[in-house]
Amino acid sequence: MKWLSLAIATVFAGPSHAALRFGCSSLTIQRLDPLVQPGKTPSAHVHQIVGGNAFHPNMTGDIGNQGTCTTCTFTEDFSNYWTAVMYFRHTNGSYKRVPIMQNGALPTPINGGMTVYYTQQDFSSNGNVKMTAFRPGFRMIIGNPTAGTKQGLGLKFVCLINKGTRFPELDTFPTTPCQGGIMTVHHFPACWDGKTLDPPDHMSHMYNTVRDAFQNSGPCPSSHPVRVPQLAYETLWDTTQFNSMWQQGNPNPFVMSYDDSRGYGTHADYVFGWKGDSLQRAMDSGCMFQGCENGRPLLSQSVDQMNACQISDMVGEDTGANNFISRLPGL
Ligand SMILES: *[C@@H]1O[C@H](CO)[C@@H](O)[C@H](O)[C@H]1NC(C)=O
Ligand SMILES: *[C@@H]1O[C@H](CO)[C@@H](O)[C@H](O)[C@H]1NC(C)=O
Repeated sequence: MKWLSLAIATVFAGPSHAALRFGCSSLTIQRLDPLVQPGKTPSAHVHQIVGGNAFHPNMTGDIGNQGTCTTCTFTEDFSNYWTAVMYFRHTNGSYKRVPIMQNGALPTPINGGMTVYYTQQDFSSNGNVKMTAFRPGFRMIIGNPTAGTKQGLGLKFVCLINKGTRFPELDTFPTTPCQGGIMTVHHFPACWDGKTLDPPDHMSHMYNTVRDAFQNSGPCPSSHPVRVPQLAYETLWDTTQFNSMWQQGNPNPFVMSYDDSRGYGTHADYVFGWKGDSLQRAMDSGCMFQGCENGRPLLSQSVDQMNACQISDMVGEDTGANNFISRLPGL
């Protein structure tokens, strides 16, 4: 349904109905968190990070001018995007990190990572509202790892039958094994106060009018009047190798890296780092998905080039990618 209406909308869409959807391969997986714990090596729990190679526990300033490569499709995008990682907890008490697989509908073979969206009111309209790109130094967080209740409409889990499954969207981890893996979804708020780049709580400069899934967002309130692109992440966790170890009747054995087996603490972080006015040009252009590549209007790169961008391991610990570890790193 969604894809059908999308196809029709694309035909009739006028200028400035742009929507970006692109893959970013994994930049690094380690215990770093320059937003909540700047300068700390290691931070409290493991994150998976994608985007530009200026990523650093002490990163500050205009990231768009600092990177030399990016794991994302668009080569002017040195932003960093990250979430916690998922672990499987064995009944014997040890943990193994759940691998990340690439999304469907993206060029292969992207190494792990995420799918990133910058949409307007929805895929087919800007709602006659100008979308204002984020500014250098802009940062934000959605969700809270210490939360014990539902935090917002944009934070979801999907039990995948295959990579195309999108519904139903769940507020917590699925309670039975998922044949095709688990997808985590993070929708950020899209209304900005127009002034604050990064307040101490990394949140209060934003206001959420997002509804479930990729439906139209409501209008922005006067306190947060500036409409920015609707940023969203999809991460696909390949839980399938663990399903046979999930014994029937036992609770969900998957946890996020801060030891959350319900999932209410699901969270995601963003550091804006598009070069110059590239994001604004894209939002003003009317381009859609792969149609924005190859200079129309955004410069893009091959999957091999995306996968080649990496940063060093600054923490140097075993995060349990290939073997079981006795505890969650940092806990
Ligand atoms: C970050 O900055 C602090 C203070 O200048 C410094 O002590 C620390 O070593 C830096 N961290 C890294 C990983 O460079
Ligand atoms: C738990 O089980 C896994 C999978 O069989 C095994 O690799 C790991 O060594 C076990 N850990 C302990 C502490 O028994």
